[in-house]
Amino acid sequence: MTDPAAETSPAAAGTTGELRSAAAKAGKRLGTAVNLTALNAEPLYAQILGEQFDSVTPENALKWGPLTPEQGVYDWAAADAIVEFAEAHAQVVKGHTLVWHEQLPSWLPSAVSADGDGAQLSALLQQHIKDTVTRYRGRVYAWDVVNEAVNIDTASGYTESVFWQKLGPDYIEQAFRWAREADPDALLLYNEVGIERLGPKSDFTYALMQQLLAKGTPIDGIGFQSHVSIHRYPSEANLRANIRRFSELGLRVNISELDARTTLLPGDAAQRWEAQRIAYQQVVGACVVEPGCEGVTLWGFTDKYSWINDDGPDDPLPFDRNYQPKPAYLGVLQGLAGELPTPGENLISNGDFSAGLGAWTASAGALALATAGDRPGWQACVSGRTAELDALVSGPVLDALAAGGPHALSAWVRLNGASSGVVEATLNVTELVDGAESHAALSLGAMAASDVAWVELTGYFGLGFAGTPTAISLEFSGPPAGVDLCVMDVNVARVGG
Ligand code: G3I
Repeated sequence: MTDPAAETSPAAAGTTGELRSAAAKAGKRLGTAVNLTALNAEPLYAQILGEQFDSVTPENALKWGPLTPEQGVYDWAAADAIVEFAEAHAQVVKGHTLVWHEQLPSWLPSAVSADGDGAQLSALLQQHIKDTVTRYRGRVYAWDVVNEAVNIDTASGYTESVFWQKLGPDYIEQAFRWAREADPDALLLYNEVGIERLGPKSDFTYALMQQLLAKGTPIDGIGFQSHVSIHRYPSEANLRANIRRFSELGLRVNISELDARTTLLPGDAAQRWEAQRIAYQQVVGACVVEPGCEGVTLWGFTDKYSWINDDGPDDPLPFDRNYQPKPAYLGVLQGLAGELPTPGENLISNGDFSAGLGAWTASAGALALATAGDRPGWQACVSGRTAELDALVSGPVLDALAAGGPHALSAWVRLNGASSGVVEATLNVTELVDGAESHAALSLGAMAASDVAWVELTGYFGLGFAGTPTAISLEFSGPPAGVDLCVMDVNVARVGG
């Protein structure tokens, strides 16, 4: 399957911005979701959109609900406007999204009888996919065919939407087959939230892709939405390993909806925006250095128009509300140049237990030091754990981390007494805020561990404070009671670059 737009020349678009040029030089796509209201209302929005990006994704205009205000009646105007803008700027269009349990047509519930066997819904969905994909055949180079069908918090592991309830999980395969019938040349993508880091949801999605591909389902790629926060996002090693394993299935990997919340991290704007620069550098850079990653789509490009503001003001994107580049803009450029953040020295003293247990303790149970047979060095194991929260605790790391800023965590973990269990790294922070003591537990990352082999628990995090930090400790917990938790080579380093 060739990318029909691969030969588009940005020069045809007129002025070519720094980001678009850097993406072309990296041989990667750089796109953004498009807010049509902003595009129509703000010339600066249109100018940056046309100059800085080589691909566009309608943020809402191609979803089932916005397309069909009435049953059997399509309103193509908004989608057409975005596709026409893209064609005028030599950009490709990624269609988003044919099947999603949100933004469904308001008329759908009444059109699908409650006790129906699903035939009605199937017919309506097939018609919707056929009408939409056919209309844009040759003009939309790739489609997010199914979005967010996985939810590991349900018994089935699937999002138990009206599609799942009435059609079973087979609706996923069927949707891809209908899309392929409508446009044999478009790339067909599965898009998912929260799978950019290795872990249970990414594992379930990986297995689902394997099953669908084994059945010959026409899936060409996968989207890691990557709605991250600067207080926690995948480390380079984690994200690159995840990209690699999906690409080894033959899937093109896309970072499909990148934005980076900053307000979940206390601290001043300059500190949060520097941590945000690192986040963009890290995620974009991982895509650039991994051959299996096709490109990055930002979920908007200016803080003025971000869906995240609906939850309360944030500044998750590379351009500020006045369309001025933020440090995150530089982070995208650095990532596009293949320059990844570089960690400094290990700030955790005796992180490898080479000086014995030192300040390390167990919050409950017994702590023992031993050489690890299957990995060079020393392991610290907590046994006799009676609760998931029973942890290995670092002792004070206030001096090491009080400066705040972007950091990378790495630690190797293994279990005894269970074949699998999730291990979580947490930073316990005590601060004085307006004279009062406040406590916060900052999750730095979680990883499925096993008793078979050591796995690396990694994560990037921005560290900021609302007041004056007075105590900080690092701890590892998570596996069920009765399961021993072993940890090696704990490394926390400031990142820069
Ligand atoms: O267009 C109507 C307008 O007529 C009405 O007056 C207004 C008030 O209700 O609503 C407008 O529609 C809103 C639409 O955005 C356009 O602004 C919807 O209510 C609102 O729900 C919708 O939010 C979108 C959201 O998906 C829907 O769940 C966000 O813009 C969009 O960024 C977001 O994007 C999703 C991806 O598609 C899938 N991955 C997650 C991502 C974030 O949720």
